Amino acid sequence: MKNLTIRVVKTEPELAAMLHQRWLVLRKPLGMPRGTESDRYDGNALHVIAVNSDPAVSASQSLLQPVIGSARLRELSPGVGSIAYVAVLPEFQHQGIGSALIQHLIELAKEQSFSQLRVMARASVIRFYQRFGFVARAETVNYLGTPHRFMDLNLNGEAG
Ligand SMILES: CC(C)(COP(=O)(O)OP(=O)(O)OC[C@H]1O[C@@H](n2cnc3c(N)ncnc32)[C@H](O)[C@@H]1OP(=O)(O)O)[C@@H](O)C(=O)NCCC(=O)NCCS
Repeated sequence: MKNLTIRVVKTEPELAAMLHQRWLVLRKPLGMPRGTESDRYDGNALHVIAVNSDPAVSASQSLLQPVIGSARLRELSPGVGSIAYVAVLPEFQHQGIGSALIQHLIELAKEQSFSQLRVMARASVIRFYQRFGFVARAETVNYLGTPHRFMDLNLNGEAG
């Protein structure tokens, strides 16, 4: 997409806009209310967003750029990062935005010298993560009524 910027969330209003976008994509379709899109780790995590940085759009939206995509990275244990809440607005999916978000988080994880990344992936998006080298564990976990599998990416090896 033209004029797309992937960057870390910088301000409280941006964080609020991101949480709303996260809810729209990940919780509203499950019939879950506002508030269910956040957990206690959000305060200490890195959040990346995809925003339309087209000057024409920015000007018409005052100072806040609309959040199109978002994803979170946090430290799970020393050297191990966790990716969660990966979400792209339905009308912008299949344009490479989700991939750009994951690529950005992988770079941030490397900067933080993480050796491994983990994600709990919906069964429907396992192929999406495999493209980056994530490997799915055998067991299936039920989360929010949907089958998920933990997937790991080694950042030290050749696949990193
Ligand atoms: C999963 C999700 C984040 C992927 O985001 P996305 O922006 O659609 O991802 P991408 O566009 O990078 O890649 C997805 C598909 O688009 C294709 N694609 C990527 N760029 C493309 C382009 N320029 N033109 C056409 N197709 C493209 C990819 O090949 C991929 O296809 P595949 O999944 O059938 O193999 C998004 O679908 C989403 O938010 N889903 C709902 C929430 C969800 O399931 N989140 C994950 C929780 S674990």
